[in-house]
Amino acid sequence: MSATVIDGKALAAEVRSRIGTEVAALREEHGIQPGLAAVIVGEDPASQVYVGMKHRASETAGMRSEQHVLPADTSQEALEALVAQLNADDAVDGILVQLPLPDHLDPRPVQELIDPAKDVDALNPYTAGRLAVGDPTFLSCTPYGVLEILEHAGVDTAGADIVVVGRSNLVGRPLSVMLTLKGRDATVTLAHSRTRDLGEVCRRADVLVAAVGRIGLITADMVRPGATVIDVGTNRAADGSLVGDVVFDEVAEVAGAITPVPGGVGPMTVTMLLQNTLEAARERRGLPRR
Ligand code: GUN
Repeated sequence: MSATVIDGKALAAEVRSRIGTEVAALREEHGIQPGLAAVIVGEDPASQVYVGMKHRASETAGMRSEQHVLPADTSQEALEALVAQLNADDAVDGILVQLPLPDHLDPRPVQELIDPAKDVDALNPYTAGRLAVGDPTFLSCTPYGVLEILEHAGVDTAGADIVVVGRSNLVGRPLSVMLTLKGRDATVTLAHSRTRDLGEVCRRADVLVAAVGRIGLITADMVRPGATVIDVGTNRAADGSLVGDVVFDEVAEVAGAITPVPGGVGPMTVTMLLQNTLEAARERRGLPRR
């Protein structure tokens, strides 16, 4: 293997420790304890795992964490009523409604209802719009984690050719916008399922981000030698193990640096949720973000 393996777990531990210190200082100096409320509807096992991780991580960082578990047959009205209640609760700084919701529920009005000042998951269209006009409030957690990883890995994004594969609202689309903001200044290509000759497009990349959710999507022949490869995919293999979108073993022979799955982007997603909750708590009380 020639690539440097980027240790997202170690970076996450470092950032979480810094967040924990800032939370302790906020409590001591201002009597403020940041609070995160997570809402989960139904019993999707992956969602339960994710929300459990968010809950434990926020408590470990010294935050207040509440989980609202609603039955799978919850009505749209009941879910929206809960979000309205959390909007009105001053002890709640951040609200997260875990996706996916059961099929009978429409996530969009729920996301639009979340108070933008508490939108730590950054899925309210207002929050997305602020990012799109270059004046972001909160950055969605996974793309924010990717930015932190690139910075930590010493990747200079200015003028770099960055190819993001996958145009989801959760990852690909917001990440492509973040990378083009002033200060990051990348030349971004947002590739997707209709992209012609994906391999040729990917081979142009100084930084290649895979965020589709398909096992085996990125193979070694699609990677420019020395490129940085960020694997956002979290897929369950037939044997139950967690695998990314990148064929790790062969791509690691070509890439300059690569994130593994697990232990790459995943731990940073949860970490940046904590960061957003801390920022929300400060801002809601008129304190500067940092
Ligand atoms: N489901 C998978 N990832 C996420 C996320 O970042 N936020 C929410 N709300 N749901 C998700």
